[in-house]
Amino acid sequence: MRRRHLLTLAAAGAVAGCARGALPQRADGAVAIEAPGGGASTGPAGLVFPKDFGWGAATSAYQIEGAVKDDGRGPSVWDVFSHEPGRIRNGDTGDVAADHYHRLDEDLDLMRDLGLKSYRFSVSWPRVLPTGWGAVNAKGLDFYRRLVDGLLARGIAPVVTLFHWDTPQALQDLGGWENRDCAKWFADYAHTMFTALGDRVPTWLTLNEPKTVVDVGYTAGTHAPGKRDRRLANVVGHHLLLGHGLAVQALRGTTAKGRIGAALSLSPTYPDDDSAAARRQATIADGEENRRWLDPVLLGRYPQDWLATQPADAPVRAAIKDGDLAVISAQSDLLGVNYYGTTHVTGTGSRVMRHPTSQATWQEIDPNGLYDLLTRIKRDYGDIPLTITENGMATKNAMLDQDRITFLRDHLAAAHRAIAADVKLESYHLWSLMDNFEWAEGYTQRWGIVNVDFATQRRTHKASADWYKTVIARNGIS
Ligand code: FCB
Repeated sequence: MRRRHLLTLAAAGAVAGCARGALPQRADGAVAIEAPGGGASTGPAGLVFPKDFGWGAATSAYQIEGAVKDDGRGPSVWDVFSHEPGRIRNGDTGDVAADHYHRLDEDLDLMRDLGLKSYRFSVSWPRVLPTGWGAVNAKGLDFYRRLVDGLLARGIAPVVTLFHWDTPQALQDLGGWENRDCAKWFADYAHTMFTALGDRVPTWLTLNEPKTVVDVGYTAGTHAPGKRDRRLANVVGHHLLLGHGLAVQALRGTTAKGRIGAALSLSPTYPDDDSAAARRQATIADGEENRRWLDPVLLGRYPQDWLATQPADAPVRAAIKDGDLAVISAQSDLLGVNYYGTTHVTGTGSRVMRHPTSQATWQEIDPNGLYDLLTRIKRDYGDIPLTITENGMATKNAMLDQDRITFLRDHLAAAHRAIAADVKLESYHLWSLMDNFEWAEGYTQRWGIVNVDFATQRRTHKASADWYKTVIARNGIS
């Protein structure tokens, strides 16, 4: 539980053991199959996904690029944080990470060999704007141009995240996201990217998981910038959302052709029993986990019950200015869903684990939660196109990661059920393409389907990579 601290957890504490055993394993063949009429189908060939389904994988800049001082890149909060003693397991840093910056062509070929249709990556803001604003670092921008062009040349659609937590340190020195101006700085940076790559990027994501910045970076303090101030955290959350809205508006002001939305980390919440108290706590947890992000972006309001949890003198109340919600709800074209698992809460508001966890003990593995989540978004927020921007698990099984295959298979089956229930799910990006720097856990948690030997930087397919390649080739699972 080191990484994610839910409010409910902070309030109460107890986390029970897993109630369910390992999920069953399934075998897979390798027959090319096609859905009649191009939609999702189920038949003797297995679960067939819609024609043109975007089979993808995801990474983020600080987690894979390395080259933190190359070609004029400026420092981000993660460079500073990871170098502070005691912050990261084993004193690891992202200085070298998977050295992706220097291995771009090899990694692009790796993606092509897997058959990826879509690749989600993030731009390092301080690589493009070393101090967060002002003059563009041409070499930094060129890296992303080469990346995008290299993807397109291989028939892979780029999905570009603008903010995956690496705020430029120079802006952090001015308060970072605590400062309302950061939303504007972010939109200016976004505008720079839209102008530079807008003619060739089909999909933009503004923010990755603002919730994690709020809960882990500003409340638990175990992510950069390492603060522990829940009141301030909620101000940061509001400014992040404002930055999202301003970036959406910035895109509309350019000739960029792509679509845009946010990537939110969402977790269905369930009462642990039938009591009114547990149901009430599950609603509160849902407000904190999901609705406080979904409602502003898609409905243009904060949920009343969530706002009611903020005391009269909470600084977030003053931070929400007239007109902000209209900006935040500027029409998105799609929503990115990061799904890692479900949340169960008791009548006293403590979280209990009701399913197995992965090597990441905050992760409660429950594929049905993905179905519940996707159908709930459709029910409560309408038919906005959805892309799963992250889903995956960490395992200690280095190469023969059958547990990951089972995980992926079960989650894809849940996604398929949601498509069959008319959810507009367009694509799936598994986390992660390759092993990488997992934030406070350093290199101890392996999330990739491609193994990275960090001593030699050698990339090798794990069993899950070969399996996923087959899934993509078949356009489905057995
Ligand atoms: C998500 C993050 C991603 C990675 C996975 C395991 O919350 O967006 O960078 O750390 O968790």
